[in-house]
Amino acid sequence: MPNSIFISNVLPEQALRLIPSEISVEFNDSDQPLPKAELIRRLKGKDGLICHIISTVDEEVFAAAPGLKVVSNVAVGFNNIDVVAARRRGVVVTNTPDVLTETTADFAWALLIAAARRVVEADQFARSGQWTRWQWDLLWGNDVHGKTLGIIGFGRIGRAVARRALGFGMRVLYHDAVRADAGTEQELNASYTEPEVLLRESDFVSLHTLYIPETRHLINERNLRLMKRTAILVNAARGPIVDEAALVRALTEGWIAGAGLDVFEDEPKIHPGLLGLKNVTLAPHIASASLDTRLAMATLAVRNCLAVLDGKPAITAV
Ligand code: GLV
Repeated sequence: MPNSIFISNVLPEQALRLIPSEISVEFNDSDQPLPKAELIRRLKGKDGLICHIISTVDEEVFAAAPGLKVVSNVAVGFNNIDVVAARRRGVVVTNTPDVLTETTADFAWALLIAAARRVVEADQFARSGQWTRWQWDLLWGNDVHGKTLGIIGFGRIGRAVARRALGFGMRVLYHDAVRADAGTEQELNASYTEPEVLLRESDFVSLHTLYIPETRHLINERNLRLMKRTAILVNAARGPIVDEAALVRALTEGWIAGAGLDVFEDEPKIHPGLLGLKNVTLAPHIASASLDTRLAMATLAVRNCLAVLDGKPAITAV
């Protein structure tokens, strides 16, 4: 019997064209998340699922699709998929690492600089008609060069963020469950530290860790209070790594100076307390959203799915 694939949300034509015509494809050509019952209904009898992070693929979904061989996520993060349930059922789960590393690191830096140098406020001011004369004390921000950058999660993206800091002459501290080898530390001029030291000493803290139960609310009230009052927090990883209610208090009461956020605890909802704050730069989960990178992610996801359906190892299995 020919293989069949369900694609639960929009994918570019270039990626879809890779699917041979003998494979039957069902496609939800929208970026609305499918209700779970609808996902289950449309997945019935399918061998492969290609999905975005807006699809929750849990035990109930796996149970309803016993023929499923592969779930191919179009993202590097895979917290939307119950990988333990998948393993138990022999379903291969794949993600899209590497192809988005540099683009995501670029965007973490965009948030960092925007928050430090008040780029969004400056844009709003320049458009508003209030700019009537040169002003000595207009929109002073924080320097980035020469400061200390703390990176929590020193995988591919964390390291790419550290590499960019070399150009800014920064001191880089990092923490990860696994310490990098001495060559990497030397190449990136990065020093391993315990989280408390990193939080106390960094002018910028950028999060690049996986979202797993152990990292939920890793940045909580206690840890925000450890940070410098002048520090800026950047999150382009996953929203629930930060306790958003505690962050609102930190930004409102001045425990820290600012934040740049691409991800949110309950996205697309944003904590209302963040919306009125000037010292936070907000983005709608777009860190990997460059044309080239989104195409590369989509084609890698399709290739992963096809490899498994063809009985071959996935290119990038989780
Ligand atoms: C995006 O959030 C990703 O995990 O790729």
